[in-house]
Amino acid sequence: MKMTVVGNWKMNLAQNSARELVRSLAQAGAKSDNAVDVIVCPPYTLLGTVADLQIEGIAIGAQNCHHAAKGAFTGEISAEMLVEIGCRYVILGHSERRRDQHEDNDLIGRKAHHALQSGLRPIVCIGESLEQRQNGQTFSVVKEQLDKIINSATAECIASCVIAYEPIWAIGTGLAASAEQAEEVHVCIREHLTSCGIAEALPLLYGGSVTAGNAASLFACNNIDGALVGGASLTADDFAAIIQAAREGSR
Ligand code: PGA
Repeated sequence: MKMTVVGNWKMNLAQNSARELVRSLAQAGAKSDNAVDVIVCPPYTLLGTVADLQIEGIAIGAQNCHHAAKGAFTGEISAEMLVEIGCRYVILGHSERRRDQHEDNDLIGRKAHHALQSGLRPIVCIGESLEQRQNGQTFSVVKEQLDKIINSATAECIASCVIAYEPIWAIGTGLAASAEQAEEVHVCIREHLTSCGIAEALPLLYGGSVTAGNAASLFACNNIDGALVGGASLTADDFAAIIQAAREGSR
């Protein structure tokens, strides 16, 4: 399967540093080709800045969107607005939004459904907490998250999404899951999707402290089809090295 590497900039960078980062990536050849899809997800105010650079081979995604097309939703941004500014993807259900904005699986499913209908490809995030892992609940947690999201989004919608497995304990901690730990959850997710009638081989990304140093071992796993990268996506050299590792690991 073609690999997918997504940079989640979170609430980082400014107009100049964003331009510089994307130009450096392009210069380094860190762009989409037959082996890998490259996507960057800047904060809202930098989406137009990056789109204006018109760099072929670096697709743009947002980090969230609303579940309605328009209306009285102060402070919100719709999928339609994101499409208009040049986005093709949107990250939904990141654990930081689940934690800080109390987003639940039902809402994430509704957002995914609306985003897909509006022309965005959702990157839907799931993953367990440290406590849940320690209690042996990892598989049941990710399956329950998927069930609830599928229930509100429909299986047909999820079949067109990208899924990112992001164990909460690995995000921003420097403690990435080992390739074995990630792969066994990816196998569980793959099997569960099949049992939910989603036979398509949708991309399953791993996220959580992915670096230039650990990317190759993660991408060597059969069921890891790329990465959702936070911190390391803010440095051109590191992100380019992860993209290169994905290219070499593509199957
Ligand atoms: P990290 O973030 O790579 O900095 O751990 C990943 C994410 O939150 O998507």
